[in-house]
Amino acid sequence: MLSTQDSSIIPNEWYNIVPDLPKQLPPPVDRDEKKSSIQLLNQILPKAILKQEFTFQKYTKIPEEVQEIYAQIGRPTPLFRAKGLEKALDYNGKILLKYEGATITGSHKINTAIPQAFYTREEGSTGVVTETGAGQWGTATTVAASLAGITSKIFMVKISFNQKPLRKQIIELYGGEIVPSPSRETKFGTEILSRNPDHPGTLGIAISEAVEYALEHDLKYMLGSVFNSVLTHQSVIGLETEKQLEILGEEPDVLIGCVGGGSNFGGFVFPLMRKFKETKIYASTASEVPKFSKGEYKYDFVDTAKILPSIKMYSLGSDYVPEKIYAGGLRYHGAAPSLSMLVNSGRINSSDMPEDKVIDALKLFARTQGIVAAPESGHAIATAIDYVKNNTDQKETILVNVSGHGLMDMSIFQR
Ligand SMILES: Cc1ncc(COP(=O)(O)O)c(C=O)c1O
Repeated sequence: MLSTQDSSIIPNEWYNIVPDLPKQLPPPVDRDEKKSSIQLLNQILPKAILKQEFTFQKYTKIPEEVQEIYAQIGRPTPLFRAKGLEKALDYNGKILLKYEGATITGSHKINTAIPQAFYTREEGSTGVVTETGAGQWGTATTVAASLAGITSKIFMVKISFNQKPLRKQIIELYGGEIVPSPSRETKFGTEILSRNPDHPGTLGIAISEAVEYALEHDLKYMLGSVFNSVLTHQSVIGLETEKQLEILGEEPDVLIGCVGGGSNFGGFVFPLMRKFKETKIYASTASEVPKFSKGEYKYDFVDTAKILPSIKMYSLGSDYVPEKIYAGGLRYHGAAPSLSMLVNSGRINSSDMPEDKVIDALKLFARTQGIVAAPESGHAIATAIDYVKNNTDQKETILVNVSGHGLMDMSIFQR
């Protein structure tokens, strides 16, 4: 019998939800007719990524080299039953975990970094630049760039940069260059610092700096989340899960994941929605960044400098400065348009998790499953624990995507 870890489980095509959405996805728009931000995407993204961004094709072949690298970075990631957690919660149903922390960089972010670096090199560019919040995306970008033989430069949100000094070391070890954002390396960063030298930074600002830097230095910009192409690459999570569930003979009643920009969540949930049409779905966000419950579903900018196009999404505003919470990856003001549409239509529910509940969930998870989960993933675990505690039906199978490990985020427990 096939094992859930067999490399044949790695898909050879990615899934794009756009043609399966209930309505046509509102397209990105330009706010400034003289300076088209959509045209700008042509300059900063590899052509293959642009094509995937706007395609109505449901499936895209994964290049063979990318499939091979997926096998080397820990794919398929494990899917297993969380018996320790079930026991601690006295739950008679099942809790299943898909564990993206098992990749070499410790999160799902590498799933999209690999193809983006691969296309960048294939199209003849010498390097990539991007932003990072918690540091997971920056690390994944640097590893992918180094494996592809190109350079990488990372703008890391200053508050996270200061909280997590090990991120700088690991990014440099892998051969990348990292700077805290806002920085003096871009006009936008310099302008922000001149107004507030102690600005903690936001993902929106770091994105603006990375895009400006890519344009100035003729580099390609790597998309960390939010964009359709990224959610498409991340579909490896859900596609693998579908096959692993078949092997285990399991069917989920509830799907739970955490949401920063929506990439691990969309990548996990969207492929499964094709088969499991009746499942309850929960998107877990930080209470401090309550984009679905307090944000508006509207056209808004991806980045603070308003360089990138405006997209229709749930947003707290592109100049929103979230509290300095520990889960840096969830501090983004918006969420992917496809996910936003499904939350707006009521198909996907949202759940805001406060810091204390997340810390408790992370501790319980470490002690019952032996896994130090990423603070971001702790939100999904906390939502699952809440669901179990408030649910009278003790038979449901709850499937949680644990997007990363938190072994480099230990500083959050010092406080
Ligand atoms: C481990 C982990 N999970 C989740 C996220 C949130 O991002 P996304 O919503 O794109 O999956 C991040 C972002 O940095 C992360 O590092």
